[in-house]
Amino acid sequence: MNVPLLAVADGERADRDAFRHDVLAGLAETPRAIPAKYLYDARGSALFDAICDQPEYYPTRTEAAILRQHAPEIARLAGPGCALVEYGSGSSVKTRLLLDAMPDLHAYVPIDISRQHLDTTARRLREDYPGLRVDPVTGDYMALDVLPDTIGNAHRIGFFPGSTIGNLKPEEAVLFLRRARRLLGSDGALILGVDLKKDPQRLYDAYNDRAGVTAQFTLNLLRRMNRELEANFDLSAFAHDASYSEAAGRIEIYFRSLCDQAVTVAGCRFHFAEGERVHTEYSYKYDAAGIAELARRGGFSTAAFWTDPVRLFAVAFLK
Ligand code: AVI
Repeated sequence: MNVPLLAVADGERADRDAFRHDVLAGLAETPRAIPAKYLYDARGSALFDAICDQPEYYPTRTEAAILRQHAPEIARLAGPGCALVEYGSGSSVKTRLLLDAMPDLHAYVPIDISRQHLDTTARRLREDYPGLRVDPVTGDYMALDVLPDTIGNAHRIGFFPGSTIGNLKPEEAVLFLRRARRLLGSDGALILGVDLKKDPQRLYDAYNDRAGVTAQFTLNLLRRMNRELEANFDLSAFAHDASYSEAAGRIEIYFRSLCDQAVTVAGCRFHFAEGERVHTEYSYKYDAAGIAELARRGGFSTAAFWTDPVRLFAVAFLK
C-alpha cells in the first residue's frame, strides 16, 4: 500500500518532536534519564542485532534453543487454528521456530512501532510461508487495544520473546500483562521469554561485551541526538556504564561523562560534571517465583515453564 509522502513527513516530524521533548525533559530531571525506546533508531536496531551475536550475550541463543526444543509442546498447548500475535519485532529466527511448529496457524499478527520494519518482515514471511496469513499491526504494543477483524474467533496466542519484559519496571510489566490479557481474551495465552537471575559476573559480562558493541549501542543515543536534535556531544568524552544491582535484581545502564563539560541539545545548554551519569535502560532479571508472581498480578497463570540446562533463561506459557 502506498502511503502519501506528506503523511510520512508528518509522522517523522511528530516522532522528532516527541524525541526532542523527552530528551530535554529527561536532561532537566535529577537524576537524568532518557527513555530506552530512543536507543532503537535504524543504527541502534542494527547494533542490537549485533549484540545478540556477541559470545557474552547468551539470552538470544539460549531462548532460541529452548523454543526449538519445546516448539511441538508449545504448538500443542496453543491448539490448532490459533492466531499468533507477536509483541515487537517479528523478523527473528524465534518467530520462525514457532511458525514451523504451527503449520495450521490461522494468522500471524506482528505488532511493531516501525511500519518499515513490519513491511519487510511481512514480505519475507509471505515469501517463505506461502499459505500463511500475515496481518501486521503498526503501533505501540503498550497501548494497543484491538486486533484486525480478520482474526475472527481464532484463539489468540501472544508471543513476547527476548526478555523485553525485563526492560519494563515491574509495575509497568504488570500493566503490560493486564493489557495483553484483555487483548488476547480469556481463552488466549501468552508465550513469554524472561532472562533469569544468575551469577552477577555472567550478567555483567553480557552487558559489557569485549568487542564493545553494547557500548556502541548506548553511545549511539548521543550520535542520534547530535543528528536529530542538533546536539554537540563529543562521543569520546562519554562512556557506556552498565552494572548489575543484586538488591534491585536488574542491570542498570547509563552513559557517563568522562570530564566536566557543557553540551548543547536543541538550543539548550546542559552542564555535565565528571562522572555524572544519564540513565538509559533497566534490564530486570527474574527467578521462577518472580515470573509466577508477575504472571499472577497480570491476570495469568503459568501452564508450562521451560529453561535451558543451566537455567540462564526461561520461557513460560501463560494462560
Ligand atoms: C531488548 N532487551 C531485552 C535487551 C536487554 O537485554 O535488556 C536490550 C539490551 N541492552 C543492552 N544489551 C541488550
